[in-house]
Amino acid sequence: MEKKRVGILISGRGSNMQALIRAAEKPEYPAQIVGVISNRADAEGLVFAERAGIPTSVIPVKQFADRIAADRAMTSQFEAWEVDIICLAGFMRVLTPEFTTHWLGRSINIHPSLLPKFKGLDTHQRALEAGENKHGCTVHFVVPELDAGPIIGQAEVPVLDDDDAPTLAARVLVEEHKLYPEALRKLALGQVSLA
Ligand code: GRF
Repeated sequence: MEKKRVGILISGRGSNMQALIRAAEKPEYPAQIVGVISNRADAEGLVFAERAGIPTSVIPVKQFADRIAADRAMTSQFEAWEVDIICLAGFMRVLTPEFTTHWLGRSINIHPSLLPKFKGLDTHQRALEAGENKHGCTVHFVVPELDAGPIIGQAEVPVLDDDDAPTLAARVLVEEHKLYPEALRKLALGQVSLA
C-alpha cells in the first residue's frame, strides 16, 4: 500500500495534529504525516511535531506582502514535501480562494460544531446560548467559503445541564480526536471525494 503524504496546518495547541500523528504511526494506516506548517512561531503543537521527528515550518503572514503571498509560500512548502492531502487542525487564519481552489478536494478541516450549525468562532458558547441539547464536531472538505464544504463525518455529544463552554469543549474534543483520523483514513483510501 502506498501511503498518502499528508501535511498539517496548525496555529496553536495542536491536539488534533497529535491525534493524526499517532494514528499515522500505525503500520496499517493509509497516510503518513510528512510536514507541519504553523502561521505562528509560538504554536505549542510545533514542539510535539518536532519531537515526533516531523519537519515543521513557520509561515507568518506578516513576513509577506499579503495573505496571497503567504498562502503561496505554504503551497510551495507543501509541494516541496510532495503532499497529497492537507489537514487543517486548529488553523486560525482564513485561507485565500487561490489556496483553497488549488487544494480543492485535497484539503480537509475539523470544526467544533455540528455544521451547518455554528460556523466561525465561539461555537461551544453559541451552542449553549442557543439551548442545543446536542453538539459535536465535523470534518469537511475545505472550499473557499468558510466552514461550508461537503461533510465527510460528524460526531455528536450531549449538552448537559451544568455545562459551560470549557466542559462542553472538552467533551467535543475527545470526539474530534477520534473523528479526524477516521475521516483522513477515508480520504486517503479514496472512499470519499469532492463530487
Ligand atoms: C479544535 O476544537 C478544532 O476543532 C478547532 O480548533 C480547535 C483546535 O484545537 N478548529 P487543537 O489545536 O487541535 O488542540
